[in-house]
Amino acid sequence: MNAPIPHLAPALRDAGIDRSFLQDVLGGLSAPRKHLSAKYFYDRRGSELFEDITRLPEYYPTRTELAILDRYGPEIGAGLAPGAALVEFGSGSTAKVRRLLPHLSDLAAYVPVDVSEEFLRSEAEELGRDFPHLRVEPVAADFTKPFPLPDDLKDAPKAGFFPGSTLGNFEPELAAGLLASFARTLGSGATLIVGIDLVKDKAVLDAAYDDAAGVTAAFNLNLLTRINRELGADFDLDGFSHQAFFDENLGRIEMHLVSRRSQLVTVAGVPFHFGSGETIHTENSYKYTVPGFRALARGAGWEHARVWTDPDGLFSVHALTASTIRRQ
Ligand code: AVJ
Repeated sequence: MNAPIPHLAPALRDAGIDRSFLQDVLGGLSAPRKHLSAKYFYDRRGSELFEDITRLPEYYPTRTELAILDRYGPEIGAGLAPGAALVEFGSGSTAKVRRLLPHLSDLAAYVPVDVSEEFLRSEAEELGRDFPHLRVEPVAADFTKPFPLPDDLKDAPKAGFFPGSTLGNFEPELAAGLLASFARTLGSGATLIVGIDLVKDKAVLDAAYDDAAGVTAAFNLNLLTRINRELGADFDLDGFSHQAFFDENLGRIEMHLVSRRSQLVTVAGVPFHFGSGETIHTENSYKYTVPGFRALARGAGWEHARVWTDPDGLFSVHALTASTIRRQ
């Protein structure tokens, strides 16, 4: 439930305040266990910091997934129907699909889907320059809900692409819901290529989310900087520290911001008290086993076709096929 927005300072009523961001922050900080949504990490600075994270020695997922795509690209490509439309959910940067495209000779179109229209357009243009024969048809949509694909692709076989283990940010029930929504968007007979980070040694996981250079800490704390700037809050950045750990029972990384002392913080005129050691839960990143992910996918209407992993079994890329005709 969202907290009502009480007595906003008049200045905040003016243009520039994202009401749903404000609502989410006030709601999350009013909860008995304070939390914020990981989707708000990615402002300009946050996106830059995430790019930096992907290059850290401790952060294995990105480079491992890219290596899997490079190594097995021909096999992955061979599994897609000829003349398919490739739909990437939450395309962000095109670094990953670039690894796949050379192996997909007979593609009807590449359809990057993202909420940010501006970003979509610039990425699509750049991709068009590098792959001149590729038809790129960007769609601005929230990929967490079913959405219509461009009309001219209605007869093309569909393939979905969801790399980066982004699915790990969703609670398992919501992750299943998201996979079911992809099945609706793509239709029966579709293929889905999805990147999933695997359960592994706790020490490896802990280090990947609490790197020695402190980049992940800066990424986590940047959320407070963003709230200060965009929602007129007064978080003292020195008053909070980064915490990340793998919870072996829940099978997930949790990230928190820990209050270093008892303190009062004001967000859009609303005061929030933090006890010493109290945390704001900022992210979950679920890790799966191959059979565990298979079961999740099956429950969402996807049959497991293939899986590719790296030699150390750190990361996995799955090919799934839509098993049932799902009614609207
Ligand atoms: C973008 C959600 C895949 O969970 O590994 C990286 C985000 N958070 N370091 C992940 C993240 C901290 C990342 N995902």
